Amino acid sequence: MSDPRLIERTDMRIEAANLTKRYGDRDVLTGVNLSVAAGETVALIGPSGGGKSTLLRCLNGLNSFDGGSIRVGPHLLTAAESGRLTPAVTQVRRLLGMIFQDFQLFPHLTALGNIVEAPMQVLKRSRAEAEKQGLELLTRVGLAGRASAYPNELSGGQKQRVAIARALAMEPRGLLCDEITSALDPELKGEVLDVLVNLKRDGLTLLLVTHEIGFARRAADRVVVLADGGIVEEGLPDEVFDRPKTERTKQFLSRVLA
Ligand SMILES: Nc1ncnc2c1ncn2[C@@H]1O[C@H](COP(=O)(O)OP(=O)(O)OP(=O)(O)O)[C@@H](O)[C@H]1O
Ligand SMILES: [Mg+2]
Repeated sequence: MSDPRLIERTDMRIEAANLTKRYGDRDVLTGVNLSVAAGETVALIGPSGGGKSTLLRCLNGLNSFDGGSIRVGPHLLTAAESGRLTPAVTQVRRLLGMIFQDFQLFPHLTALGNIVEAPMQVLKRSRAEAEKQGLELLTRVGLAGRASAYPNELSGGQKQRVAIARALAMEPRGLLCDEITSALDPELKGEVLDVLVNLKRDGLTLLLVTHEIGFARRAADRVVVLADGGIVEEGLPDEVFDRPKTERTKQFLSRVLA
């Protein structure tokens, strides 16, 4: 199952330093300091509107930001250049795949077609080579045999696993996942979460926005709580969930665990 290329890695730390982001006159991120070590799995939790998606999008160069900086491995993103497709952003996106709640698969392509598109276009792989890798990835996410299915012929959980395989096809060192199980029925969530656990074992760096407290407790090395534009608490899952230190975390957890 495990891919040695994923384990062989330089320092793939993801860092945001004093990151600020405004939309109009609304301060969304007000000085976020976050560091995720190579191979670490971090669950990012917090109330709706707290800035979790915004933070992930900044880390992947999808959003501009107003202050501070981001470093992914050796690549630095600065506020001044943010929002532009600079060479550093291209490099960051090679290192970090991003997966969304709504899959964002191409509806006119099969599962395999979705997976081979970027390796052929961006990495200039031959179709044969990309398809060989694509079939291996489909097996890795438990979808061997569904290569020729179109997205509308797949369940939500299967679609999300194709989206994961598609991200893995670019051979990233880490994944940013934004509530990737939120749209799924409970039994389909499990199959996607199992795939994440395997990726963690393979050594990928994972930053996961999730509302799955049980999963975060089980699979995360660290839990980070983002609320009101800043990190209000972070620690081991058991510390944060069982012995939260801040009132803001207590208030948030009392709502989600109610
Ligand atoms: N494109 C945008 N334009 C203006 N405001 C935005 C935009 N995107 C997000 N916001 C605002 O930024 C704030 C943070 O949004 P964000 O989506 O990052 O929150 P979140 O923590 O991911 O919430 P949720 O848990 O509901 O997904 C919210 O107040 C939101 O309304
Ligand atoms: Mg969000």
